[in-house]
Amino acid sequence: MEKVVSGIRPTGNLHLGNYFGAVKSFVKMQNEYDCMFFIADWHSLTTHPKPEDIQSSVRTILAEYLACGINPEKAPLYVQSDVRETLEIYLYLNMNTYLGELERVTTFKEKARKQPDNVNAGLLTYPTLMAADILQHRAHKVPVGKDQEQNMEMARHCARRFNYIYGVEFFPEPQSFFFNAQALKVPGLDGSGKMGKSEGNCIYLIDDDKTITKKVMKAVTDNGPQTPNSPKPEVIENLFTFLKIASTPETYQYFDEKWNDCTLRYGDLKKQIAADLCAIVAPIRERIQEYKSNTDLLNKILEQGAEKARESAKKTLDEMRHIIGFKAL
Ligand code: ADP
Ligand code: TRP
Repeated sequence: MEKVVSGIRPTGNLHLGNYFGAVKSFVKMQNEYDCMFFIADWHSLTTHPKPEDIQSSVRTILAEYLACGINPEKAPLYVQSDVRETLEIYLYLNMNTYLGELERVTTFKEKARKQPDNVNAGLLTYPTLMAADILQHRAHKVPVGKDQEQNMEMARHCARRFNYIYGVEFFPEPQSFFFNAQALKVPGLDGSGKMGKSEGNCIYLIDDDKTITKKVMKAVTDNGPQTPNSPKPEVIENLFTFLKIASTPETYQYFDEKWNDCTLRYGDLKKQIAADLCAIVAPIRERIQEYKSNTDLLNKILEQGAEKARESAKKTLDEMRHIIGFKAL
């Protein structure tokens, strides 16, 4: 069976971009593939979180993963820093990765611009650590949002280069995977590009109905459709994207027709989006609270997940050491 791996950094609560862009695919994929999902706490160190916050952020994401429907019996859940094997693999991959290609990664350039006083080597080698996360399980598919495409390209380079240098067919080239056949970018409701934590425009899975409705009703719009069948400007297209991901096709069609004959009222559209989002988020929100309070269960899930992930990573690492020419340990 094809292997699947993906992870999210524990840097806050999950929002609808994370959910529709990644976690919803995790949930669907666990029934069809050999999946493992993890919490990328090493990756979060690039911004120097406080030691006392690390455990609680990990538990938060874990409760949210579970509440979204990831079943650890089907798809083990683990914490990145529980699997030390990753670090040795990271070292080997770094030896075959060139400074120039790491410096060209746009997320690196963006981060370097955002935190000019902290352009650390971990930030530069973020893509090789991500490649190690993936290649350690010799994964075929990686469910991630559109913004991760360049990191995925680097992971494929790492796989290809290792195979080439050592003349082996060891690593499959991991492919980005989008359950809806197409990479999804969940837009912001403030008229800006994407929904994201650093953009400060998120609807979170822990938001209550009132908060969600308020955020949706405040979404940026324009003066309304002026001529029949005109193309939608970006801010309106963004609202329709929400309809596409949260509502039924019939609802989408209903509002699309209203747009086309210039009778669309944005208030009605927003109310519909808010109601449909609330219906999706409310049960998840309730489950988050339940899981969060069950510390024993969370610990047990992570322990079992770490064991499985270590076993899989160790197998890959042992073979890599053999291929490279190091003795067995
Ligand atoms: P953020 O941008 O809020 O910091 P992350 O970078 O931690 O979110 O993303 C975690 C996962 O969620 C990744 O797979 C990413 O591609 C996906 N993701 C985040 N925001 C969006 C979005 N607006 N649309 C689609 N996918 C997203
Ligand atoms: N870079 C991913 C993000 O920002 C998180 C991540 C780290 C990841 N390692 C990974 C995703 C391996 C998929 C596979 O969202």
